[in-house]
Amino acid sequence: MEIEEYARIAAAEDDHWWYRNTRAVMADLLDPWLRSDLGGGRVLDAGCGPGGNGAWLAAHGAVVGADLSLDALEFVRARRPETAPVRSTLERLPFADASFDVVAAITVLYCVDDDRAATRELARVVRPGGAVLLMEPAFSWLTRAHDKTVHSRRRYTRPGLVERARMAGLTVTRATYVYAFLVPPAALLAGAERLRPHATAEAGSDVERGGLDPVFARLGRSERAWLRRRDLPFGSTVAVVATRPG
Ligand SMILES: C[S@@+](CC[C@H](N)C(=O)[O-])C[C@H]1O[C@@H](n2cnc3c(N)ncnc32)[C@H](O)[C@@H]1O
Repeated sequence: MEIEEYARIAAAEDDHWWYRNTRAVMADLLDPWLRSDLGGGRVLDAGCGPGGNGAWLAAHGAVVGADLSLDALEFVRARRPETAPVRSTLERLPFADASFDVVAAITVLYCVDDDRAATRELARVVRPGGAVLLMEPAFSWLTRAHDKTVHSRRRYTRPGLVERARMAGLTVTRATYVYAFLVPPAALLAGAERLRPHATAEAGSDVERGGLDPVFARLGRSERAWLRRRDLPFGSTVAVVATRPG
């Protein structure tokens, strides 16, 4: 990923509506594990980037942030003392089997060369009964310049991400789309970018768009209320919660 994008994420991830809302969705999806006796537990923030999610997860246990990028880990070292940074590829993690109670990979597998090998590693390092949370960008037709900035390899559908988890030996307990309300603007943006590929210099990042943020934040809250009761049939993100059988 480009270092400017790490700087943009690092500047935005505490306050930007998308990151706040995504952490709230993570909290809901991981609730049974975060509510249990995880205090003192072990959490892996896989593909941690600059470390905002890991810092938030540190309220629930000891967090290790693994990432391939030295730039990302430099942000973690400088700004996130709650997270222990480890340089590693997700396809081959330097941790023993069953080392973690919770493993979160948030917008990561879509950048990884071998996402099946990475998912197998996430499944290997979670303890039996522990949780693996995958949240990834959905639908290839929503691909935009931002995907290029973060060196995206692919996007997922719900069946595709469920299949990755099952092939890794995990039992899927929840699979849903998230951010249904972002599909129309993301599709418009993707279409506009295809028509005018060199239109704007800032098109390569989604982090700094701003005008509709208060509206999106409200829609995010409403959608979370829905997601607490049922799944969404489409959205710009797909989420899978899975456990390792005992
Ligand atoms: C889009 S960022 C997401 C960062 C963070 N999870 C978040 O939600 O803000 C994707 C991260 O995955 C990392 N990454 C990509 N491929 C990787 C690999 N094979 N092993 C470890 N990390 C990888 C990148 O370096 C980058 O920091």
